[in-house]
Amino acid sequence: MTEMTKMTGNPFYAKGPVAPQYFADREELLKFFTDNVRDAAETKNTKPDNIAILGNWGIGKTSTLAKFRDILHNELKDSINVFSVLFSLKPSVCENANAFTTCLLDAISEQYSTSIPLKNRIEEIIKEEAKIWEQWKLESISLSPELHRKTRNLNLVDALTKLWNKLENSDIDLAIIMIDDIHYLLTEGWKGSLYDLRTDIQTLSSKGTKYLFVITGPTFIYPEMHELAEPFTRLFEKFELNSFDLSGTSEAIIKPLQVDGIPLEISDSAIEQIHNITDGHPFFIATMMHDILRTQKSGKLTLEKFEEIKPGLIGHLAKSKFQDDYNKATDTEKLILLRCAKLKNKIFSPSDIQGKSQAKLFERLANKDLLVKLERGKYKLYHPLFSVYLRGFEI
Ligand SMILES: Nc1ncnc2c1ncn2[C@@H]1O[C@H](COP(=O)(O)OP(=O)(O)O)[C@@H](O)[C@H]1O
Ligand SMILES: [Mg+2]
Repeated sequence: MTEMTKMTGNPFYAKGPVAPQYFADREELLKFFTDNVRDAAETKNTKPDNIAILGNWGIGKTSTLAKFRDILHNELKDSINVFSVLFSLKPSVCENANAFTTCLLDAISEQYSTSIPLKNRIEEIIKEEAKIWEQWKLESISLSPELHRKTRNLNLVDALTKLWNKLENSDIDLAIIMIDDIHYLLTEGWKGSLYDLRTDIQTLSSKGTKYLFVITGPTFIYPEMHELAEPFTRLFEKFELNSFDLSGTSEAIIKPLQVDGIPLEISDSAIEQIHNITDGHPFFIATMMHDILRTQKSGKLTLEKFEEIKPGLIGHLAKSKFQDDYNKATDTEKLILLRCAKLKNKIFSPSDIQGKSQAKLFERLANKDLLVKLERGKYKLYHPLFSVYLRGFEI
């Protein structure tokens, strides 16, 4: 091993969003985002287009938001001044409107990022506003649970309008609010949560503030959102993240090696095989590459060598991922999974499996990210390798 490879770490990491310098593919979306931000920031009267990023588990939604933030504060930092915040939803945040507003305002006061030259001024502004928000929070806690459900005494629109006016006075051109995993509003949210959010976004826009909202969620939420809150979907430019094609997979494999100067070459046929096995799924590519780099840090990885280590790679996936996945399911759900894996067709419906309340069980398995809901009544297992894993069981 040379001195250099000893020092380089492992750039492949699948347990959180990918570091922006290793981010691969998604050119169309990145370009849309960059142009959109530039247009809105540079011209006074241009309203930004809100963006909805849809895709299933592990496909790169959170990574894309991290990349957006990197673009704002690195690539675009000399031309425009942007304020941005990344807000990750979780079920507890969606219980009622007040909890949602409180958590969003908390995220703004704690996790914002901004263009460097304005840092001190913005910090002052956020501190001032956070004090007011804190006061609201204390007042809202004294409300009865009954009132909590009915009223929105924490007013998101007022808070954000005031914030925007101050930001604008401090030379911020655009404020970006990214809400990761919006589906929790749909599955765990208070009644009318999407309508409320839609109305807020519309009101903010008509009040002349410049907020760009980016939301992410699994693909299936779109038709449901469309039905529930049709104008909601109209407020967003929709982008779907799918598995990488071969050139995307190739970039996801090669770019981190190049950026970190790791002298390992992966042959084209090995890349193609990794693509086939992972189905171009970013999470699985990152996981495999992480393991590959453990066994070989330099030289050339040929297809033959890859085939040699392949059983070990898949075995590790079974141990580190699929076992946990499987154990997320209840005994009844496990049986469903095993039956699904044995079906001839990759795409199936609840009626293809015998038994009662299958539709409910499928729904629950989709909420656990084990099945992917393609459209109403159409499902698949979340990854072909998981299917192979399940077929190894006797039932
Ligand atoms: N564009 C990308 N380039 C390289 N790796 C990616 C990309 N998108 C996702 N990944 C890999 O996939 C994993 C899962 O991505 P993540 O953003 O957490 O997905 P999601 O939020 O959709 O569940 C990350 O840890 C990363 O290793
Ligand atoms: Mg995510």
